Amino acid sequence: METVAPSAVIVAIDGPSGTGKSSTSKAVAAKLGLRYLDTGAQYRAITWWMITNGVDTDDPQAVALAAGKPAIVSGTDPHAPTITVDGVDAAAPIRTREVTAKVSAVSAVPEVRTLITALQRSIAAEETGGIVVEGRDIGTTVLPDADLKVFLTASAEARAARRSGELRGQEAAGLAATREALIKRDAADSGRKTSPLAKAADAVEVDTTELTLDQVIECIVTLVEEKRAVR
Ligand code: DC
Repeated sequence: METVAPSAVIVAIDGPSGTGKSSTSKAVAAKLGLRYLDTGAQYRAITWWMITNGVDTDDPQAVALAAGKPAIVSGTDPHAPTITVDGVDAAAPIRTREVTAKVSAVSAVPEVRTLITALQRSIAAEETGGIVVEGRDIGTTVLPDADLKVFLTASAEARAARRSGELRGQEAAGLAATREALIKRDAADSGRKTSPLAKAADAVEVDTTELTLDQVIECIVTLVEEKRAVR
């Protein structure tokens, strides 16, 4: 017996930083009436909590011991996604350069991944109307049965230019420094032992280097509609 609405698709969007994952995922969810989950924000939130509570983020044992302490809550409205830590709005502090520099080390700790992965799966299961989940390991590990898996890529130059644009006005960051930081973070995220950044075998790869945001959104909306049509 069919237990889900025919439109209740689960879409996994993975890829490295600066490929436009967040803007794309939010817009696709909004267009299709789906919920939206930014899993990077959850890893950033736990990292922010570690920093503000004096946990040494370079000490995996200390991070593992503290991992279960903060209560991280994600709001999944694609028009106004939210993230709180112990009831405090964390949307702004999780975007600082300090958090960005430390998030790869924290998210590589297996105990952190186990907890955050369980949280992500429970959110996806609760959103019975369908959801777009973006991250690094959604198609491979978190939701391997997702209806559609997309892996976004772009050249390092394009990614650094986009990330620099996002940072403008918040924190001064040169293009070269941004490119270097981004490549370092992607290498750490791809090289870690536990569920690294990787393309699932059954993911559709979309190279966004030469595409506008609208073109990427349109491409994924079409892919979702094709999936819905055959269900
Ligand atoms: O998407 P973002 O840049 O906000 O993600 C921040 C970090 O979180 C990223 O460098 C790696 C980690 N991350 C992860 O390990 N797994 C995910 N599913 C999402 C993010």
